[in-house]
Amino acid sequence: MTKPISGFSKLSKEEKIDWIVNNYTHNPEQSKHVIEAYWNSDSQLQKLHDEFIENTISNLYMPLGIAPNFLIDEKLYAIPMAIEESSVVAAASKAAKFWLKKGGFKTTVLGTEKVGQVHFIFKGSYTSLSQFFDFVKPKLLLETESLTKSMSERGGGILNIELRDKTADLENYFQLHCTFDTQDAMGANFINSCLEQFATTLKSEALKYASFTEEERNIELIMSILSNYVPNCLVRAEVSCPIEELNISTEVSPKTFAEKMVRAIEIAKVEPYRAVTHNKGIMNGIDAVVLATGNDFRAVEAGVHAYASKNGRYSSLTHAEITNGIFKFWIEIPLALGTVGGLTKLHPLVKMNLEILRNPSAKELMRIMAVAGLAQNFAAVSSLVTTGIQKGHMKMHLMNILNQNGATEEEKAKIISIFKTQTVTHRGVLNALEDLRKQP
Ligand code: MEV
Repeated sequence: MTKPISGFSKLSKEEKIDWIVNNYTHNPEQSKHVIEAYWNSDSQLQKLHDEFIENTISNLYMPLGIAPNFLIDEKLYAIPMAIEESSVVAAASKAAKFWLKKGGFKTTVLGTEKVGQVHFIFKGSYTSLSQFFDFVKPKLLLETESLTKSMSERGGGILNIELRDKTADLENYFQLHCTFDTQDAMGANFINSCLEQFATTLKSEALKYASFTEEERNIELIMSILSNYVPNCLVRAEVSCPIEELNISTEVSPKTFAEKMVRAIEIAKVEPYRAVTHNKGIMNGIDAVVLATGNDFRAVEAGVHAYASKNGRYSSLTHAEITNGIFKFWIEIPLALGTVGGLTKLHPLVKMNLEILRNPSAKELMRIMAVAGLAQNFAAVSSLVTTGIQKGHMKMHLMNILNQNGATEEEKAKIISIFKTQTVTHRGVLNALEDLRKQP
C-alpha cells in the first residue's frame, strides 16, 4: 500500500514525478513519458506554467478554437473558445452565421455590482449594533483608503456597506453586506482585502465602544469573503427576427420551429431536470470563453446556477417569445469577469485571446460571453427540436472515435467520406473501420 508523503511540495519536479508514477501508475516509464510529452519545449514558458500552481508536473491541454462571424452590437467578433467537447465551436459558429444575416446580437449590461460580506456573531440587540454601525461606518471607509486609492482613481471602489440582521436564520448572526465596483478587474483580491480590513476595524472599534456591554464588545468574527453570487452584475443578450426568416430546417416550417423553440424554453422554465441540461448547454459556450480569457470558471458557474434558482426553483436562463410575428430569444445572466489582472497579462494565450476580442473592457466581455451562451443555447435547442442532437454531435465525435481506434490518415479520410451520408454511431464507425481493414 502507498504510504502518505510529507514534504511533497518541497521535492523537485522530477522527484515529484518519480514519486507519483512509481506509487500510483501501472507503467511508471510510460506515465513519465506522457507527463513529459506535454511539457513545453520553451523552458521559460514551461516555468511560467509551473509557477501558476503548486506541485505542477505537466500541462493539460485543451483545444483552443475560434468561432467567427459574431455580430454583437454592430461589431464583428471572432470568439476564442477553449473546450474539449467536439460540437461546441461548430455549433457556436453556425448560430453566429445564422444571426449575422439577421442583424446579429444586441446586448445590454444591466449592472456591474460585486458583493462581499463580513460574517460575524454579536451577542446583543440589533438596535445597539445598529448604533455602533452608524458610528463605525466612516472608519471602515477611512481605514480602507490606502486599499481603494488606485481602484477609485480608475472609477471604482466601495459602493456601500450595509449592516444585515441574519438572526432569524441563525442565532446572533449578523453581517456587513458590502458592494463594490471593480471596473475591469474581476476584483477578488481587492474585495477580500477591503473585507478583511473592515473586519479588523469592526473588531477593534467594538472593543473600545463605550455604549456596548462587555458581551457586546466581543464581536466574534467568523469570516470575510467575496460572494460569487452577483445578481446585480448582470448582462442581457438578445436576438430577434420575423418568424418567416427562421428557415432552420427543411423538415419543419419556420412557424413550427419558432413555436417549438418557445415550448422548449417553457419546459426548461418549469422542469428542473431539463433546465439543468438546458443551462449546461449555455455554459458550454460561456465556459469556453471564460477559459480562453483566463477568467474563473468556477466562480462564473457557481454564480450562474445560483441565479438560475433565484425564484426558488432552478429554471432556464434563456427566454423566448413570439409577439406580432417576431421571434425573440434572449438570455439574462450574471457574469463577474476581469480583463485586467489575474492571468490576463501573464498567460500568453490568454493575452492573445483578449487581443483577438479587441482588448475588451470587463463590460464588453460580459456582452461577448452572454452572446456565446445564447448562441450555444440556440444551436442546441434548434437541433433538439428538429433533427435531434445526436446527428451533429456524433458527426463531430467521429474524429474522436477514429483517433481512439488508431485510424491512419487514409482510413480517416475514407470513413469520413462514408459517414457524409450516414448517421454516425460508435458501432457503425467501428464496423466500417473493421471492414476497411479487412480489404486487401
Ligand atoms: C451537451 O453538451 C449540451 C446539450 O445537452 C444542451 C441541451 O440539451 O440543451 C445539447
